[in-house]
Amino acid sequence: MAVFQEGGLMLAIPQSFLDQLKMSCDIESIVSGYVSLRRSGRTSKGLCPFHSEKTPSFFVYHDTESFYCFGCGAGGDVISFIMRIENLGYLDALKFLAERAGIPFPEEAREDPSLKIKPLIYEINRAAAHFYHDQLKSEAGAPGREYLMGERRLSTKTITRYGLGYAPSGWDNLRNYLRGKGFSDEDMLQAAVVVRGKDGKSVYDIFRNRVIFPIVDIRKNVIGFGGRVLDDSKPKYLNSPDTPVFKKSRNLFSLNFAKNVHDGKLILAEGYMDVIAMNQAGFDNVVATLGTSLTSEQARLMSNYAQEIVIAYDSDGPGRTATNRAVGLLEEAGLKTRILDMKGAKDPDEFIRKFGAERFKMLIDGARSVTEYQMGVIRAKYDLGSTEQRGAYLQEAAGYLATVPSAMERELYIGKLAEEAEIPRDAIRESVNRELRRNLRKARKKEEEGFESGRNFVRAGRQADESAQDGLIACLYHHPDWSGNIIARLPDNAFSEQAAGIYQALLSAQREGDGSLASLRERISDEQMSRLAGILARVSEGQLSITPEALEDYFRRLQGGRLEKEVRDSGNLSMEEARALAERIRRSKKG
Ligand code: UTP
Ligand code: MN
Repeated sequence: MAVFQEGGLMLAIPQSFLDQLKMSCDIESIVSGYVSLRRSGRTSKGLCPFHSEKTPSFFVYHDTESFYCFGCGAGGDVISFIMRIENLGYLDALKFLAERAGIPFPEEAREDPSLKIKPLIYEINRAAAHFYHDQLKSEAGAPGREYLMGERRLSTKTITRYGLGYAPSGWDNLRNYLRGKGFSDEDMLQAAVVVRGKDGKSVYDIFRNRVIFPIVDIRKNVIGFGGRVLDDSKPKYLNSPDTPVFKKSRNLFSLNFAKNVHDGKLILAEGYMDVIAMNQAGFDNVVATLGTSLTSEQARLMSNYAQEIVIAYDSDGPGRTATNRAVGLLEEAGLKTRILDMKGAKDPDEFIRKFGAERFKMLIDGARSVTEYQMGVIRAKYDLGSTEQRGAYLQEAAGYLATVPSAMERELYIGKLAEEAEIPRDAIRESVNRELRRNLRKARKKEEEGFESGRNFVRAGRQADESAQDGLIACLYHHPDWSGNIIARLPDNAFSEQAAGIYQALLSAQREGDGSLASLRERISDEQMSRLAGILARVSEGQLSITPEALEDYFRRLQGGRLEKEVRDSGNLSMEEARALAERIRRSKKG
C-alpha cells in the first residue's frame, strides 16, 4: 500500500495496482504517443515536447524506465511524463494510464469524494458556460453584446473563441436552468456557480448582470468564471472561488490557447480583457493570472511552455509593484524576463484600441531587459537637474547594479551612467564594486551563520560541487551494495538540500527492497525526480562514471571541496576575511 497526499487528502493506493500499472505501461510506447522517437540500442531520442528545439535532446532510457531532456532538464518516469504533458496531478495521471492500459482503478482511491465530484463539476460548469453564451446571443443579452462589441470592440469571432457570455439580471436564471438539466442545488454549490442565501435554504446565482469570461484549462475543461460589471459599479470583476477543480494559484487564463504557440515565449498580462484584446490583435501566446497576483506555481507552469516571458502589466503604480514581484518569481523559475514599456495607455487592451496591433507588436519586440527596466524606474525617481539629487541617483543606481550577476551587463550600465551623469567611468565602477564587496561579505556572513546552526550533511550555498554529488547518487543508485561504504564515508555537508533529499529517499527505498525511480515518487519532489532522471541519463550517456575509482574521486571532491574553491577564488579578501575563512576551514576539517 502506498500512501499519497493530494489536494489535502490522504489516499492509499494498493501496491499491486501500482506494480500492474508499471508492468503494462512501457515508457517508450507511451512517450511515442506524443513524441516521434528514433531508437538506437537501449535508448530512444526525439524532439522535446516540453520546450521548443530543432535538434533532439530528449532521451528515453529502457534500462531505468526513465526519460530526460538535456535541453530543459525535464525528466522522470512514465508517470512524471504523463503528469507533465497532460498537466495532470499524480492521481489523475495514474487514472489516465490505467484507463489506457485497461486496468480497473482501485476502489479505495475511487471512494475519495472529491474525485467523484470533479467530473460532475466539470459538467455543471460546461452547462453554465453554455447558458451564459446562449444568453449573450439571445434577446436578453443585448446589454452584454452592447458592452463587449460596442464598448470593448470585440469581434463575434473573438467572442465565440473565448465562449464569452452574459449573466442576466435576476437571482435564479442559471439555477433554474441547471435544475432543469437535473443538477441538484448541492452540486451547484460545489461548482460555486450559486451561493446559499441568508435563510440557509435556498441558493441563488453568483453572477448577475455581468459579462462572463469562462476559464478553461489545457484539457478544455471549464474550471471557473470571471464576471465583469457593465458599468462602474463595484466589484468590477467577480471570480469563482476555488473549488475541487479550480485552484486560482495553479492555473492561468488562456493557457489553453497559449500552449499551442510553441515559440518559447509567453506574454503575461494582468487582466482577462488584456489577454483577449491581444488575442484579437493576433497574439495567441498570452496568459493572465485569475484575479490574484502571480504565484511561484504559475511561474513554474509557464516554464513548461516557454523560456522567455514578456511582462505586459498595467503601466500604473500597482502595475509596477506587481511587475517587480513577478520578475522575482519568474527568474526563480529560470525564465528569462523582459518588461513591456508602455506609454500613452494604461494597459495593453487600451493601447491596442488606441494605437493598433502593429504598434503593439513593436512594443513587444522592444520589451526591455529587467536591468534596463529597473534602471529606468530608479532614474524616474530623481530630478537630474539638481546636483544633490544626481548624487543620490548615482548612489541608488550603483547599489542596484551591484545586484546584477553579469559583469558584462554591469559594465554596460556603468558606461551609460557615466555618460548620463558626466562622471568618469572609474568613479562609478569603484562605487559599484564597493557595493559588490559589501554584498559578498553579507552573503558570507549569512552562510557562516547557517554553518554554525549545523545542518547535518546539508551544504549551504549554491557553489557545491554538483556533479560530484550527482556522481555519488549515481553510484548509490546503480550499486545498492555500496551503500554501507557510502554512508560510512560520506563527508559532512556533502550535499545541497535537494541532493540530500534524493540521497535519503534512495537509501530508504533501497532498504525497503525497491530503489527504482518509480518507487521514489512518494519521497521526493518533481524537481528532485527530474534531477535524478538527469543523473541516470548522464550515466547512460557515459558522462557520469559509476566505477569504484570514480566513487573515490567523488568522495575527494565532496570533502570540503567548496571551502577550498573559495580559497582559490579569494584573491582580494581583506585580512579580516581571510582570517575568518581560515577559521572556517579549520573548523570544518575538525568536524
Ligand atoms: P484591472 O482592473 O486592471 O482589469 O484588473 P482590466 O482587465 O484592465 O479591466 P477592464 O479593462 O476595466 O475590463 C486586472 C485583473 O484583476 C482582476 C481581474 O482578473 C482583472 O482582469 N480583478 C480586478 C478582480 O479580480 N477583481 C476586481 O474587482 C478587479
Ligand atoms: Mn483594462
